[in-house]
Amino acid sequence: MTSDSNSPNPAQDGGTTTTTETSDATDAVADSKASMSLSDADTLVELQNVRKYYPIRTGLLQRHTSDVKAVDGVSFDIREGETFGLVGESGCGKSTLGKTVLHLLEPTSGQVIFDGTDLSSLSSAELRQRRRNIQIIFQDPASSLNPRMSVEQLIEEPMASLTDWSKDRRKRRVHELIQEVGLSVEHLPRRPHEFSGGQQQRIAIARALSVNPQFIVADEPTSALDVSVQAKILNLLKDLQAEYDLTFLFISHDLSVIRNLCDRVAVMYLGEIAEIAPTKVLFDRPKHPYTKALLSSVPTMDGLQDDRIQLEGDVPSPENPPTGCRYHTRCQEYIGPICEEESPELKLVDDAQICACHHYE
Ligand SMILES: Nc1ncnc2c1ncn2[C@@H]1O[C@H](COP(=O)(O)OP(=O)(O)OP(=O)(O)O)[C@@H](O)[C@H]1O
Ligand code: SF4
Ligand SMILES: [Mg+2]
Repeated sequence: MTSDSNSPNPAQDGGTTTTTETSDATDAVADSKASMSLSDADTLVELQNVRKYYPIRTGLLQRHTSDVKAVDGVSFDIREGETFGLVGESGCGKSTLGKTVLHLLEPTSGQVIFDGTDLSSLSSAELRQRRRNIQIIFQDPASSLNPRMSVEQLIEEPMASLTDWSKDRRKRRVHELIQEVGLSVEHLPRRPHEFSGGQQQRIAIARALSVNPQFIVADEPTSALDVSVQAKILNLLKDLQAEYDLTFLFISHDLSVIRNLCDRVAVMYLGEIAEIAPTKVLFDRPKHPYTKALLSSVPTMDGLQDDRIQLEGDVPSPENPPTGCRYHTRCQEYIGPICEEESPELKLVDDAQICACHHYE
């Protein structure tokens, strides 16, 4: 059990972990990833040219005049048991893509195939049934937990609405889960506001796990937490992944988290995928100029550091993205008019590395 869960007062997080402890913990996660081979695993989730546009309406008549092209033609697959990372600057469409994968947002076009089934082909009742297999953990646990419900009700609620399990079975499961996420049964009658951020995220994780999902979208699950608690939550997710054989889409703009947790990574820029590669390959030999810029923005100093992406220049508007390659207005390796005129396709450039850049055509 971890110190944030052992805090005598649950409202006080155990923020005493040192930087060394934090990096030890993330290194341990990295070591366990290194020994894994997922290349032969089956595909669990497949995205085919997925688009999600938010309509912009203007004037008295609220006419549909344009769209925010938050996700614009994304294709990739996620293998069973894999932690697939999605990284990119704020506003590039990561959360929209995560919600669209789950069909919490209906795609504007394209398909999400989950375990062989096109989610768009399902009725709302069938989709609801599928939700048992697909869960989400949000960035801000405080806002994802209903403040009027007790911890027990919060963890039980998905089971009550998505399964036909008896009250006894649900109760047993709540008791198991609360301990698995490092809290105790004494916490069950309490309300979310009585807990620290790390503990609230543990409750959100228990809630997501309650219905035995196969696939979890984790949207920045640690970015709202103190740095001392982040590694503990990441290690908890890692342990639970092994125990429950989970597949993750792990969304973050924190490169150190992505590096330590993910098997493969997709780099997203302005609604599109710039590059996909196994994590080590991406960090050792980035191909896309945007990936290179992202990686070079990470401070190299050891110890406590802010690894958040800080790139030069403004991100163009997703309402009116640049023509051709969307990165051309900021690209440090621009090669000429083709970059402004033709949109580069994602192509296999090196073994398992896929990149969308005219350099590699
Ligand atoms: N409901 C909405 N209506 C209109 N535009 C939206 C809506 N939600 C998001 N957007 C826009 O879509 C784009 C992508 O947003 P999204 O939240 O998916 O990005 P993100 O990569 O998750 O960003 P962050 O890292 O800040 O969480 C942004 O331009 C955002 O302003
Ligand atoms: S296609 Fe051109 S602008 Fe785009 S990343 Fe490659 S070199 Fe840069
Ligand atoms: Mg987001």
